[in-house]
Amino acid sequence: MPLIEIDRPSGTVLLHAAATCYALRVDPAAGTVRTVHWGGPVTPADVREAQEPEAAPDSFSAPLDGTEELAVDGQVRFAPPALDVRYADGTSAVEPVVDGYDVREEGDSAELSVSLHDTGRPLGWRLHYRVRRDCPVIERWTVLRHTGERGQPPLTLLRHSAAQWNLPVLPEYRMSAVHGRWAGEFQLRRTPLAVGETTLTSRRGHTGHQSNPWIALDASDATEEAGEVWTVALATSGSWRMTTVRSAEGRCSVLGGSGHEGVEITLAAGESWTTPVSTGLYTPGGFGGASRAHHSYVRDHVLPAPGEPRPVLCNSWEATAFDVTFDGQRELADLAARIGAELFVVDDGWFGARSCDRAGLGDWTPRQTAFPEGLRPLADHVHGLGMRFGLWVEPEMVNPDSELFRERPDWVLHLPDRTAHPLRNQLVLDFSRPEVTDWALDWLLRTVDDFAVDFLKWDFNRSFTEAGSAGHRPDARRVFVEHALGVHRVLDELRAARPTLRIEACSGGGGRVDLASLARTDQAWVSDNTDAVDRLAIQHGFSQVFPAQVMGAWVTDSPNPFTRRAVPLRFRFHSAMAGVLGVGGDLTRWSAADLDEAAAYVARYKEARATIQTGDQYRLGTPADPSHAVQYVARDGAESVVLQWRAGPAERARAPRLRLRGLDPRAVYRVDDDSGTPAAGTVRSGAALASHGVPGELPPGDHASRMLTLRRKS
Ligand code: DGJ
Repeated sequence: MPLIEIDRPSGTVLLHAAATCYALRVDPAAGTVRTVHWGGPVTPADVREAQEPEAAPDSFSAPLDGTEELAVDGQVRFAPPALDVRYADGTSAVEPVVDGYDVREEGDSAELSVSLHDTGRPLGWRLHYRVRRDCPVIERWTVLRHTGERGQPPLTLLRHSAAQWNLPVLPEYRMSAVHGRWAGEFQLRRTPLAVGETTLTSRRGHTGHQSNPWIALDASDATEEAGEVWTVALATSGSWRMTTVRSAEGRCSVLGGSGHEGVEITLAAGESWTTPVSTGLYTPGGFGGASRAHHSYVRDHVLPAPGEPRPVLCNSWEATAFDVTFDGQRELADLAARIGAELFVVDDGWFGARSCDRAGLGDWTPRQTAFPEGLRPLADHVHGLGMRFGLWVEPEMVNPDSELFRERPDWVLHLPDRTAHPLRNQLVLDFSRPEVTDWALDWLLRTVDDFAVDFLKWDFNRSFTEAGSAGHRPDARRVFVEHALGVHRVLDELRAARPTLRIEACSGGGGRVDLASLARTDQAWVSDNTDAVDRLAIQHGFSQVFPAQVMGAWVTDSPNPFTRRAVPLRFRFHSAMAGVLGVGGDLTRWSAADLDEAAAYVARYKEARATIQTGDQYRLGTPADPSHAVQYVARDGAESVVLQWRAGPAERARAPRLRLRGLDPRAVYRVDDDSGTPAAGTVRSGAALASHGVPGELPPGDHASRMLTLRRKS
């Protein structure tokens, strides 16, 4: 069956994405492109009669509102436009004309594009759609073009959404999103959607800790296991905005694109602007089904190296902070190797005058007093221990106290006649300027080569303030978008030039985790809060959108340096084993017994890693429950791993049995339990494990945890 089906009589185009269908109707006579279906599979006949525009019941209504694929301002429309333009004469009202559409199908993916222009005005736009046979995620983006002749005045795009996603009319709408702050990212919130406009946004020049460009909508009836869920995400790493509109008439649309409110794009004649990709996903499989489908999409169609197991890393930050020396790092690396780490990462403090956060950013040569012979001897030592060598960098930043700033004060983003407010004593370099990105690429390549670097942790530790690109263009705020595009360019060129280099995305923890950043990195640092209990809620939210394969998690010291909470090593490991396991504690202060115990967990993680990192993930409960678990099922079905935690005190009532998911009901599994409870070694059928589960008890006491391993026997 073709991925894109066209029903010419009705002008309906059906996009078949895995077991879902999206249909739109192109109506040249009316100048409209409208959504007619987003849900389960349908045929052209099913949607032929669907949603014909109604006549306006009165002079205060616009039947088109909430139905178009990219609504403009103009004609009879009152809803917020997805595309809002201002011409040189001040006109914003657009009268769209449909020029036609084009379909290209190749192998297991297909693209549709629909072209439109404004009557008598120099603006053309093309709506793009991509679908794939194996994936319910639909990718959409828009290309906008000033089609005038040279010399015609420019036009300004006030709102330039990648897409408008229109949901079916539902009796209720509920919105799920992840919110937070520094050291408290990805907190999942589910709230009824108010009538009006609800905007999630970052006005910070980066994706942000406060909101992530992802939203899930349902009719307040979906559960973790079942029910219709629609999600929308944006592949953007700069400022962004996603507005969900619930009309009083009962319609619901999501508009999203790069740039916050007020980030305008001015196009001169002949210029064009390509929006980021926005993804849309429908599933009848509840929130868990939505997450699993999104995880598969990230793995199969976003990540650059999805097939590689992510290494167990040891990072120096919480152990040594800025007190980085050759001897200290060597000692840490020796212990990291002893417990089985595969990658040793020297964090902040290795360069310039960086003995604290007040100086050195921008001067990317090894700190003379810390590394008199440079970094190569340390890299060689780490390689000699059988580990890969990683280095922290923060290429987009500069301390005013640095050689770079003294030479190039004009490279920072801040406007010359405005106060530049340093945050964490640093300013942002303007990565929208090619001379700045050329400089960054040059020293990054040299650093990777000179110090035999296998892995970079790319950090970004402050939001933009007073930002605008030099030259006072009328659309100076577009730097809130274009800076991130410059970062993407450097990452792309770096990876192309050094294909074995691997990169971790970081922004003071999880301030830049998004689909665009993951398209050019291998994993993400999720939060600077490494408290194993707090982390469970952060990881629960993160897992709504992103797979365990990119979720960096470290075991650090107890009491935790950030929260002062004391948590047993076992719980700390089980918490971090839910993603890409790392160790970030000061191993020089761990006892020999702790190091041995740690080595045993690392070994166990390596055995289970393929299932955890790339398996299908099932959330069994939430961190708000007395105990909860996450289950991973290997894609070939041969193994399943369950990590279960009780963060608080044991309840008196018996813990409910843990019913498992994703198993083959007819298969038989051997269940092993590393807590030594009676379940260990039992053999049960998939059907019994799903309907009756395993005993839910954890050992007594606070912060109890366990790992179950299920191996398919037949
Ligand atoms: C913020 C990161 O999230 C930390 O892990 C660490 O790398 C510091 N920056 C270093 O300055």
